[in-house]
Amino acid sequence: MQAVNVGIIGLGNVGSGTLAILTENAEQIALKLGFPLRVRALCSRSIPADQPAAADSILRTTHWRQVVAHPEVDIVAELVGGTTVAREIIDAAIAHKKSVVTANKELMAQCGAEIWDRAIAAGINLAMEASVAGGIPIHTVLREGISGDRVTALYGILNGTSNYILTEIEKHGSPFDAVLKEAQRLGYAEADPSADVDGYDARSKLAILAALAFGEKITPSDIYTEGIRRILPLDFEYAHKLGNTIRMICGAHQTTAGLILSVRPALIPQSTILAGVQGAYNAIWVRGQYGEDTFYYGRGAGAAPTGVAVVSDLMRVAREIRCGSPERVSPFAHERLGEYKPIPVTLQHSAYYLRFRVRDQPGIIASLAGALAAKHISLEAVLQLPSDNRGDLPFVITVEPTSEQSIREALAEMSAHDFLVEPPFAMPMEKSL
Ligand SMILES: NC(=O)c1ccc[n+]([C@@H]2O[C@H](COP(=O)([O-])OP(=O)(O)OC[C@H]3O[C@@H](n4cnc5c(N)ncnc54)[C@H](OP(=O)(O)O)[C@@H]3O)[C@@H](O)[C@H]2O)c1
Repeated sequence: MQAVNVGIIGLGNVGSGTLAILTENAEQIALKLGFPLRVRALCSRSIPADQPAAADSILRTTHWRQVVAHPEVDIVAELVGGTTVAREIIDAAIAHKKSVVTANKELMAQCGAEIWDRAIAAGINLAMEASVAGGIPIHTVLREGISGDRVTALYGILNGTSNYILTEIEKHGSPFDAVLKEAQRLGYAEADPSADVDGYDARSKLAILAALAFGEKITPSDIYTEGIRRILPLDFEYAHKLGNTIRMICGAHQTTAGLILSVRPALIPQSTILAGVQGAYNAIWVRGQYGEDTFYYGRGAGAAPTGVAVVSDLMRVAREIRCGSPERVSPFAHERLGEYKPIPVTLQHSAYYLRFRVRDQPGIIASLAGALAAKHISLEAVLQLPSDNRGDLPFVITVEPTSEQSIREALAEMSAHDFLVEPPFAMPMEKSL
């Protein structure tokens, strides 16, 4: 049977992983599909320029427009990343009525709904499994596997770099800066680590997942985002004393007032399945009204796991091209539906962990407790591990469930005290996990 032809633009981590799988696994892919999936064109700016057709008849070019316009290319794989050239590539592919597979979380989080509309209008297929949690087929789960359920909450560990850093701090008690440096040396963290450790990468992923899970229009700006730079090894010591650990949790949960979305470090019970997610792994926990809890775990990045996601998308799109059934319904909602409308994180109710570093003097606990009482926040426990440094004495207060707004107001009032070495640090305690 005649092959479906693929053009790959971008031959970095994901592009090279995709190409390797398409090449090495070609026979099995053809058996599963019933027809071959053939690489017809390859493009990156550093590929040997504009070779005449090589023995394998693959076009190799530095000009992505040649791939998009190639009459034999049926599906364009956009694996360049970013929001500029990638956007042009996808726009041009749609204009040429070529189906598109992308791994681009940033672009899809920013303007996925709009791109998807144009793809549907053009009658072409679009797939983006690799854009969230690399090797975990979570798009397929939300769009197909559990699409009959009504999702009420979704919690994920969606950034492998920050999870690696947190679990290394936990295991070895090393400070954040040292662990980050080592992660950079090992190639687990970028030279500019901000997208990972400050939560922006995870925020794009949560925006896409929440749109898919709740059928709501979600933009990254709807998501409260806080990174992991303030986490100290001693936070893990205190968390363990409380039977907890710390992870950067991407959460989206429904309340009676609307949807609360956040990416932030949080305390989670050591007994929860999410606490077992170590190193660069990702996981997503979905809670449904009917089917209750399901859990998905795997590698969130890397050439091969992400390559599998791209190749599987290429196979699905190829099948749809052959069978003439492109997806006609966008996974992104276009209007605020009301029921799942995002609401500010300040309306969240949770127990909180508050960590202080103080210069020792009498009356500290009384004045901090006073600030909490003024906001009607009830103290749950005060913990202090032994320390000899009277000039930088850490301790922790946990409080009973209260609103994020009240906690913020109490912390603002406390921050004025001159016995503080640094502003107090707060994390929610996700007790329902
Ligand atoms: N890395 C992962 O594990 C992972 C996981 C999930 C999703 N993703 C997503 O997958 C996408 C690709 O990520 P990556 O890690 O593979 O990035 P990467 O390693 O930086 O690769 C990007 C590729 O695009 C090429 N490129 C850049 N500008 C181009 C242009 N104008 N024309 C043609 N080629 C161009 C680059 O090669 P030249 O410089 O030679 O042009 C390079 O081959 C991103 O959207 C990323 O968010 C990555």
